[in-house]
Amino acid sequence: MTSGEVVVRSAEPGDEGAIADTLARAFDRDDETVLVHRLKNTGAVVASLVAEVSGVVVGHALVSRVAASIDGRRVEVTALSAVCVRPTHRRRGIGTRLVEVAIGRATEAGAEAVVVFGEAGFHSRFGFSRGRARVFAPGRPGDALQALEIVPGALSGESGTVDFPRADD
Ligand SMILES: CC(C)(COP(=O)(O)OP(=O)(O)OC[C@H]1O[C@@H](n2cnc3c(N)ncnc32)[C@H](O)[C@@H]1OP(=O)(O)O)[C@@H](O)C(=O)NCCC(=O)NCCS
Repeated sequence: MTSGEVVVRSAEPGDEGAIADTLARAFDRDDETVLVHRLKNTGAVVASLVAEVSGVVVGHALVSRVAASIDGRRVEVTALSAVCVRPTHRRRGIGTRLVEVAIGRATEAGAEAVVVFGEAGFHSRFGFSRGRARVFAPGRPGDALQALEIVPGALSGESGTVDFPRADD
């Protein structure tokens, strides 16, 4: 494990290879890589973040706008995707830093809520919950959509939809 200061910053041109390598090492399947490409191609990206230690990219997170509405009302929602840290650098707070900065970027971009899939045990530490996402009733068995309200009550309502892109769509 490398010791050194962790810097979380916006990805820059030239980081593509290091991000791809980080995704490949962090996830068992290439779904997240496919998803990252898909999201970047939509032009909805709010922030592509990298975590760097001693000048080496060891983590990544993507924040993007997604279309969402509740009871016919449009809601400003951002999705957090492909949060990952290289296995060699886990359990030292880098994932936490990435999620905290990602939530901050979403807030700055005017998001009323943030949604995320996967690793409920990790994301619940930041206030994400499946209960908060229930209004979106994703309707796919096994889905684990979680949500965090930035604006209290933003996800209140009877029924909503969120267009969270998936690698297998
Ligand atoms: C999830 C992930 C990003 C966490 O990165 P990390 O840098 O190890 O996270 P941190 O060091 O900030 O961990 C913070 C805490 O969360 C806990 N944690 C990490 N992964 C967890 C998980 N999958 N479930 C529950 N808790 C988890 C850690 O134990 C740590 O707790 P502690 O402070 O009590 O020791 C990393 O394990 C990873 O890349 N996993 C594979 C990709 C993935 O599944 N991403 C999430 C879905 S998008």
